Order: sequence, then structure tokens, then C-alpha cells
Amino acid sequence: MAFPHTRMRRLRASATLRGLVRETELSPARLVLPLFVAESSAEREPIATMPGVERLSLAASVAEAEQAHALGLAAVMLFGIPAEKDEQGSGAWDEEGVVQLSVRAIKRACPELLVITDVCLCEYTTHGHCGVLDEHGAVENDATLELLARIAVSHARAGADVIAPSDMMDGRVGAIRRELDGEGFSDTPILAYSAKFASAFFGPFRDAAGSAPAFGDRRAYQMDPANAREAVREALLDEAEGADMVMVKPALAYGDVIAAVRAATRLPIAAYNVSGEYSMVKAAAAAGYLDERATVLELLTSLRRAGADLIVSYHAKDAARWLAEQS
Ligand code: PBG
Ligand code: ZN
Repeated sequence: MAFPHTRMRRLRASATLRGLVRETELSPARLVLPLFVAESSAEREPIATMPGVERLSLAASVAEAEQAHALGLAAVMLFGIPAEKDEQGSGAWDEEGVVQLSVRAIKRACPELLVITDVCLCEYTTHGHCGVLDEHGAVENDATLELLARIAVSHARAGADVIAPSDMMDGRVGAIRRELDGEGFSDTPILAYSAKFASAFFGPFRDAAGSAPAFGDRRAYQMDPANAREAVREALLDEAEGADMVMVKPALAYGDVIAAVRAATRLPIAAYNVSGEYSMVKAAAAAGYLDERATVLELLTSLRRAGADLIVSYHAKDAARWLAEQS
């Protein structure tokens, strides 16, 4: 009598049989490419800590978006790097700001590609915090909400398909939802960065965006990496405030959090495969320690397996190319 495991071996040896019973699918349609759009003269400026990622001019952001669309990616996610910063971060809601201009240009050139915009103040404030400060240098939650809502409306007005607040202030999803509805954007969905942890993996992003806090850290508003139950609570609060999708960030060290949030909500879940996770793989691949392609596809698949519906990743274009070669 044959033992069952002999048949499992047969299932695993055949690519067709493997495909037939595979539990998790990874496709470019699930991937979102983040773009850094800079208000500067350079067409493309390399980012030292993120090999292969660049700060883009307005024109270059359109070219990247077109490439993303041609590769079958679902969306781009825009981050703005303004020429001037101030105490309040007023560049963030400027109708002629770098993100607002880029959204308009991308939607004109590539209407089918979804444009998601990151809503936060840290790239626009001189102090680099995600909100406005009181006289003691602490972030003022409620005063910040008004500004975030203003940014969100300016993005929607420019044509953003999805609004993604990453600031982690309490009550921001509700505040943004009310303002969007009041301004005639009740159909614009919110992707809430619900469980955003105070993480070392954001280092390269802060280098790219020049948004490292000038003093202190973000632990007052970003989450303790030790807490998974709290992440579920944050996701459910955001859902109650009107979030249409929730995000877990970073991704790779937080598969358990993605799975816990998956079990707790019926909303779509996004995982953000952040800058440090990207750069870590890049460095290992450059040193010859890891095969980049196999590593990236395995990691992205693991996020889908954990329960993420969509994945934001700096590797999105590479992954789309590798997936196309495979099929
Ligand atoms: C800003 C923001 C950050 C990231 C996305 N939005 C950085 C931070 O909170 O310091 C990180 C993304 C990445 O590391 O790729 N609120
Ligand atoms: Zn921020």
C-alpha cells in the first residue's frame, strides 16, 4: 500500500499540479508602486539608501506611472518632496503642490492607473513630525486633524482615486471622511495606515524624503512593535470611522499582525513592504548573499499568504517583470 506522502511528492514535483492546488496567488494587479515626486530641477535623483529608487521630477513621475501601468501594476502611491518646508507643512495642501500637480498629470496621461496619495505632514514640516506642534514640541492631535482633512480634499480635487493617511493621529479617518463628503468627494475611498509601527525599517524613506524628525521620535503616535492586539483595535477603530481599506506597516516582520487583522475585519487589507525591507534585500543581493528575484517573490507571496489583499512595494515593477517571465 502506498503512503499518502508519496502522492504529495508527485503533486509537488509537477508544475501543473502545483499550480492547480496553490493556495496563494501573486499578480501585478495586487501591487502598488510608491513614487517620490520632488519639486526640484533634476529629472531623476538617486536615493543613496535605496538603490534603484529615485526622486522624480513631475515629468519623470508621469513616465514612471506609464511604465507601472504597462507592467500591469494596479496603482502608484505618491509622496511629495517640496522645495520649501515650514512649521505647519502648508506645502501639503497647496493646490499647485508637487503631489497635486503630479496627480493631475498622471491621471491625464494614464487614466486607468489608480493614483493613491499619501496624506501626512512630515515631508512638509521643518521639524519633520507628522503633525503640528504645541509650545513644548509635542504633536497636537486635534489641531492636526483639520490640516490632514485639508490635504485630503486638495488631493481629491486634483483627481486622486484613493486617499491614504499615514500620520497616525487619533480620529483622522473620521475627520477626513467628513471633509471629503462635505466637499463632494463621498465616492473617494480612504486607505488608512491603521497599524503603523514605530519602526527602524522606515530609515531609508526618511533619507529619501528628508523627513527624519529634527528632535525626538514618532513613538507618541506610531505603535509599539510589541503590540498585535492594539493593531487590531486600531484597524477596527479606523473601520468604524469610515476607512474603506486598512494597512499594516511595515510588512515582513508583521505577518502575524496582518493575519490577526484579517481575522478581525472584512475590509481589504494592504501590507506596506517598506523602504528598509527593500534596501535590506537590495544590499544582500548586491553582496551576492541572496538571489533577489527568488527572495522578493517569496517575500511578497508570504504577505499575500498572511492575508494581505494588496501590497505596496518598491519592488513592484521588478516583481511584475519576474511574474511575467514565469508565466
Ligand atoms: C510618513 C510616511 C513614512 C512612510 C510612509 N509614510 C515614514 C515615517 O513614518 O517616518 C514610510 C515608508 C517606507 O519606509 O517605505 N508618515
Ligand atoms: Zn508622517
